[in-house]
Amino acid sequence: MKIGIIGGGAVGQALGGKLQSTGHSVALGIRDPSDTELDRARNFALPLRDWAATTGARVTTMPAAAAHGEIVINATAGMQSLAALMLAGAENLAGKILIDVANPLNFSRGMPPYLDPALSGPTSLGEEIQKAFPDTQVVKALNTISNAVMIDPAQIPADHDLFIAGNSDAAKASVKALLTSAFGWTSFVDLGDIVGARGTEALLPIWIRLWGVNQTPLFNLKMVRA
Ligand SMILES: NC(=O)c1ccc[n+]([C@@H]2O[C@H](COP(=O)([O-])OP(=O)(O)OC[C@H]3O[C@@H](n4cnc5c(N)ncnc54)[C@H](OP(=O)(O)O)[C@@H]3O)[C@@H](O)[C@H]2O)c1
Repeated sequence: MKIGIIGGGAVGQALGGKLQSTGHSVALGIRDPSDTELDRARNFALPLRDWAATTGARVTTMPAAAAHGEIVINATAGMQSLAALMLAGAENLAGKILIDVANPLNFSRGMPPYLDPALSGPTSLGEEIQKAFPDTQVVKALNTISNAVMIDPAQIPADHDLFIAGNSDAAKASVKALLTSAFGWTSFVDLGDIVGARGTEALLPIWIRLWGVNQTPLFNLKMVRA
């Protein structure tokens, strides 16, 4: 399948590399795929020139990556996701599934970041993206786990769950099928429509504290019920 990834940080690179290696055709989009940007060091990730050489995937503009994808993934900084997706172009996202991995974390006051009030409480980033792109089927998924776990859930040696939310059952079924075949996810908790993104995004403050408690990002949550 052709996959477009918007965002070239640790998440875009991890997802794109694994998808390319499992037989998909990946185009990853950044704002300015110039030589300078391709060689720029990135936080917890490779310079994109090295990533492309290692994975065989393509780095391009955000609109070109969105146009390439039959499924598109939003892997941009959450406070900038709406701007990034506007740049990618509503026309390039229309009629497609957009997997939204981003979190509306505001880092302007340093660490720890906080959920931005404009994108939380009575709304969420996932909902705001769905409102801004009504012709696109937004599926919130993968935002509550580290990128290493996203692409290899088996490295946590226990049962654990992936939360998913979105308005279209068919779109969620397609996303689950992709995440199972490419990454090995087997246990999904479907939170219903895209309003469920309020819940998964609101997990980030506790996720960040658990990272500190566990001293590793390699953990996840499991729902246990009577
Ligand atoms: N890191 C993880 O393990 C993890 C886990 C779960 C969820 N997430 C979420 O996944 C998302 C991506 O995280 P990340 O750590 O890979 O990368 P990131 O540093 O949060 O974001 C990287 C991307 O955001 C784009 N961006 C930044 N400012 C922009 C702007 N003003 N307009 C358009 N695009 C802009 C950048 O574009 P350029 O390349 O053009 O600069 C870059 O490609 C975040 O929302 C994060 O909360 C991360």
